Amino acid sequence: MRKPLIVGNWKMYKTITEAVDYVDQVKDALPDPAKEEVELAVPTLFLESLVEHTRGTALKIVAENCFYQDEGAFTGETSPLALRELGIKHVIIGHSERRRLFFEDDTTVNKKVRAALNAGICPILCVDETMKRKQEHDKIVWVVSQVISGLQQVSEEELARVTVAYEPSWAIGSGNEAATPAEANEGCYLIRQTIAHLYSEQAAERVRILYGGSVNLANIKLLMQKDDIDGVLIGRASLDAATFLKMVNYQSC
Ligand code: PGA
Repeated sequence: MRKPLIVGNWKMYKTITEAVDYVDQVKDALPDPAKEEVELAVPTLFLESLVEHTRGTALKIVAENCFYQDEGAFTGETSPLALRELGIKHVIIGHSERRRLFFEDDTTVNKKVRAALNAGICPILCVDETMKRKQEHDKIVWVVSQVISGLQQVSEEELARVTVAYEPSWAIGSGNEAATPAEANEGCYLIRQTIAHLYSEQAAERVRILYGGSVNLANIKLLMQKDDIDGVLIGRASLDAATFLKMVNYQSC
């Protein structure tokens, strides 16, 4: 049985003061972590103070990115080892904004996945799908190829520490153009099938697959009811603490 995982992704929003205020509102009001995991991906600068601030609570802090080397002359980058030292468990890798705005290609994404695993951190590997690909019915090839390249040289044992997120970029940030629950489930199913081919049926059954792209109060429950959707990555709607709290309690939405 795969445990639901709800991840808020703040991107580059909030100041430290706002971040601490938000975390104070949600950290002690979360569902039982034995039944559902709740995490917040925050800007690198906030990681240390928010990890301290949430210690001992059910709220886990996630990094939005890291580099693929442990150390070196890489001005402005973040070492996965440094994240590990802070006690960070998850790092988002290959978000479509990183692919599009910072030119991260499949090779870079794969290097980051492997560096995170080597450092003892669990990657959330994001798989993108553009509107053009969707319209050209090229989606299957595109999604499958990103899963294959993102997981190159990742063993089945290591895969147990990987979460994959289906994040069609045509649905991200639009607020109202989310994939329908059926479309989102189809993308997650496709990823699961690819993993079954690459590894095994058991590995595919075990791996958690999230959907991300305009998840909101109105659609979260329907998305979470789908068989292949094990959780969601929430951008814009996670920025408001009260809304995020309602969303993590999606059963009553
Ligand atoms: P959104 O972002 O919920 O604002 O569409 C999702 C994401 O970027 O992961």
